[in-house]
Amino acid sequence: MTQHPFLPQPMRIARIVDEVTTHDILTFELVPLEGEIAPYLPGQFAELSVFGVGEAPFGYASSPHEAGVVRFTVKRMGAVTQELHRLGGGAVVGMRGPLGNPFDLTRFEGKDLIVVGGGYAFTTLRSLVAYLLTEEHRGDVGHIDLFYGVRNPGLFLYKPELKRWRDAEDFSLHLTVDAADGDWTGPVKLVPDLVKEVAPSTENAVAVVCGPPPMIRFTLPVLEDLGLKEDEIFISMEMKMKCGVGMCGRCNLGPRFVCKDGPVFTLKELRELTDDF
Ligand SMILES: Cc1cc2nc3c(=O)[nH]c(=O)nc-3n(C[C@H](O)[C@H](O)[C@H](O)COP(=O)(O)OP(=O)(O)OC[C@H]3O[C@@H](n4cnc5c(N)ncnc54)[C@H](O)[C@@H]3O)c2cc1C
Ligand code: FES
Repeated sequence: MTQHPFLPQPMRIARIVDEVTTHDILTFELVPLEGEIAPYLPGQFAELSVFGVGEAPFGYASSPHEAGVVRFTVKRMGAVTQELHRLGGGAVVGMRGPLGNPFDLTRFEGKDLIVVGGGYAFTTLRSLVAYLLTEEHRGDVGHIDLFYGVRNPGLFLYKPELKRWRDAEDFSLHLTVDAADGDWTGPVKLVPDLVKEVAPSTENAVAVVCGPPPMIRFTLPVLEDLGLKEDEIFISMEMKMKCGVGMCGRCNLGPRFVCKDGPVFTLKELRELTDDF
């Protein structure tokens, strides 16, 4: 970030994509009103502000190679997100970022990658996978197994892209739902059960997990049973935040701040910080 950490950059909403059948998750494509988009990496987040209402943190859903725009996928929850959803194309919002640490891509180099995501927290994993599927970065990691689960098929984000990823080389896409509807022919099971059933090789692999807390809680033992060590499992944490830069103390985990020292931690780090894992 080149400017003062509390000063939002004005961004224009260039496009809005209605992602899911419940119409409560929108992807906002933002372009700067002036200046450049500060460089960021998958795993980082930004605070988006609606002027006069407040701000809230969102993981970058776009990948840095998508020049000139950034994308955030936002579920309607409360004050800020409801107002964001009310804005139309052309409206101006504020953006502070990038904040937090990215996925440590140097730790992924030459390894197979097991990506496990659930619900709308998949946004940040979309950034990671899109980045690694670029021509420039596809050689950075080996085989990619992507597990992604939602409650029902209408809730998958980025459906056109998921279709394209099915044909990507050296890439296995494993989609699952909790409850099927008419056209769904894939698995109907929870994400941790699908990971267990597929049992991807962990011989030379690392895993990345991001999703609702129960999905994370039940996925971690599966990954460990498959042979991954606690420093080979990376978890992107979501917590209530305010300042996003380690000053307000709203997001502490022991002596560390999720906004500044995270949101990406290894399982080893999380176990040293809290009893929850
Ligand atoms: C690092 C990070 C990345 C995130 N990325 C995304 C993203 O890509 N897309 C997205 O839609 N959301 C994301 N979130 C969650 C998002 O920040 C919250 O949904 C948002 O702050 C809600 O703001 P609000 O003003 O609309 O709701 P509020 O009025 O503040 O709260 C409405 C309801 O949402 C609950 N809530 C608020 N914050 C959170 C939270 N962090 N986790 C769970 N429940 C919460 C409150 O308890 C309350 O019940 C992320 C959060 C973090 C910390
Ligand atoms: S949000 Fe203020 S310290 Fe993390």
